[in-house]
Amino acid sequence: MSLRRLAKEQPANFEISKAALKEIDIWVQKYPEGRQKSALIPALWITQKDAGGWLPEAALRALGDLLDMPYIRVYEVATFYTMFNLEPVGTHHVQLCGTTPCWLRGAGDLKKVCEDKIGPKGSTSHDGQLSWIEVECLGACANAPMVQISNADSDHYYEDLTPESFGKLLDDLVAGKKPEQGPKNGRFTSEPEGGANTLISKGLYSKVTKKALPNAVKKARKKPTKKAAAKKPAAKKKAAPKKPTAKKTAAKKKVKS
Ligand code: FES
Repeated sequence: MSLRRLAKEQPANFEISKAALKEIDIWVQKYPEGRQKSALIPALWITQKDAGGWLPEAALRALGDLLDMPYIRVYEVATFYTMFNLEPVGTHHVQLCGTTPCWLRGAGDLKKVCEDKIGPKGSTSHDGQLSWIEVECLGACANAPMVQISNADSDHYYEDLTPESFGKLLDDLVAGKKPEQGPKNGRFTSEPEGGANTLISKGLYSKVTKKALPNAVKKARKKPTKKAAAKKPAAKKKAAPKKPTAKKTAAKKKVKS
């Protein structure tokens, strides 16, 4: 594993956006009271997106304050995982898997494409559009060789690549297109080439039901809008007891006497 340090050039300050804070709070709510630091990894990920693809030191400190944890604990996590970028990256950040299955299936050729189009490992292209690093297994070995490309939109896997399809993919991204993610050799997800040949009986999944996860965020009840409140029929008032008529009162008096 390479040595990972914070970037030498840092912005003077950084403020987490309101939208990102809202998103981080969803994760914080998933843990018991006082355990908000457990949300650090998703919080780092959200903040990285918020900061344009990397984590300035000021952002790490802001997270330390937000989650009430020492800055060093935040640094430890951010510098350990290669998914957290400690230096600015290109608009489209390519993470090329170089682990054995991908390597055996041609990751070395994809590496050459990166070197030709972007530059040496860890660099960013002159126009700032592309950057690339080599990473360890991204868990899509069945679709080797593959890359993950992160940008403001999301983080997409592109699989079953060849130098040609990969080169085109990078060109398309630079041209502002949105290439379809997934396998590039025509197969569906990680099914065998030519289509699935097991677990294909009709109705096999018809009884599968979706279950909510135990830690799923509960949806907050919506406050009724003024318009909706106005439409709501008013609750029926209890009818006030009827006042006896003068005729009935006179009749009662007559009975008493
Ligand atoms: S080895 Fe490349 S995804 Fe697993």
